[in-house]
Amino acid sequence: MKTRSNNHPDTIWYNARVATMETGGQPYGLIENGAVAISNGKISWVGVTEDLPGEPFDSCSDKLDCNGRLITPGLVDCHTHIVYGGNRASEFEKRLKGASYEEIARAGGGIISTVSATRAASEDELFGQALVRVEGLLSEGVTTLEIKSGYGLNVEDELKMLRVARRLDKQVPANIVTSFLGAHALPPEYAARSDDYIDLVCEQALPAAVAEELVDAVDAFCEGIAFSPQQVERVFDVARGHNLPVKLHAEQLSDLKGAVMAAQHGALSVDHLEYLDPEDVPVLSQNGTVAVLLPGAFYCLRETMLPPIKALRENNVPIALASDSNPGSSPVGSLLLMLNMACTLFRMTPEETLVGVTRNGAKALGIEDKTGTLEIGKNADMVLWDATDPAELSYRIGGNPCKRVMILGRVN
Ligand code: NIG
Ligand code: FE
Repeated sequence: MKTRSNNHPDTIWYNARVATMETGGQPYGLIENGAVAISNGKISWVGVTEDLPGEPFDSCSDKLDCNGRLITPGLVDCHTHIVYGGNRASEFEKRLKGASYEEIARAGGGIISTVSATRAASEDELFGQALVRVEGLLSEGVTTLEIKSGYGLNVEDELKMLRVARRLDKQVPANIVTSFLGAHALPPEYAARSDDYIDLVCEQALPAAVAEELVDAVDAFCEGIAFSPQQVERVFDVARGHNLPVKLHAEQLSDLKGAVMAAQHGALSVDHLEYLDPEDVPVLSQNGTVAVLLPGAFYCLRETMLPPIKALRENNVPIALASDSNPGSSPVGSLLLMLNMACTLFRMTPEETLVGVTRNGAKALGIEDKTGTLEIGKNADMVLWDATDPAELSYRIGGNPCKRVMILGRVN
């Protein structure tokens, strides 16, 4: 009987077009007639099928002939608010009759109406509702997902949301990371006392969430209808005290210079960015901050101001894309649809969009050393598609070309 070396592959997917999404080289890091070998949940070999070392290939019992189909890294949805109560279909109707997102928010609807529904829901109810939505994303090849709090807006309900996110991580095969978003909106009980609410976030909610190990990163919403850059800085200072990375909803509806402030705090990402001044973009590249664009929110709010894509490209700022899945500005259940919207609405290239939900999505979460590309040593998170051309993933609308998903070396 043969003894297995540590590197003996458990699984080999071969005869595929492998979009490694590595930088440099071919577009998409594409390997024709490629193969990927997996050992102990990690990628142990990537290359041209003919070059696979003979013996391990012959003795590997789990080999999949991909018949020339496409393999990509597992997709990363780096910005979601997928845990929430209720829905906002009636607001959608109001917006169609002419009310703006901002007007609805100022009249106590918007985020605050979801806060009421989320507070009223039990942890089990939130879990059950979110599970369905998460499974929808996973069925399209998402292997890593970020989930934010931000609809609790008090200690107890922010923690409830984050506990749901941690339970989801245990329940589903995908890797789920959390962001504490206590500074998402001002709860009604703090009306006209926003500094007091920031005190609550800084002194009670965030420390309590950290103490329960519920927080992987800290986010905030910097906007006229939310919090000022100065208030957000206070939250970021507390985050730094806990050694937590920060990120920010910035320049979605107006230019408050939140993105510059966040980048100067070393933010992993700044998200939305429609109103980001192109002149401020170099600050993002200087600090290695990812620009996360959210075409679902742009589309649903019928925004016309485009994010400064040209300046982002010229300054080599990594661009990620995400669903922003939430009940208000982006009731989106498909990450692939975001690729299409980013091409059509933002004129991004299909390659940029795929980089945005793989390599750069992982970077926006600070986990690019683990996932996001098909490279030796990274987690074996990958997807086999019923497609051959990587551009098919952004070109089609609807339908689900995902054939098989591997997460940490396991097909589920
Ligand atoms: O990312 N911009 C603020 N937060 C969410 C919207 C949440 C909501 O409308 O419920 C966003 O778009
Ligand atoms: Fe968001």
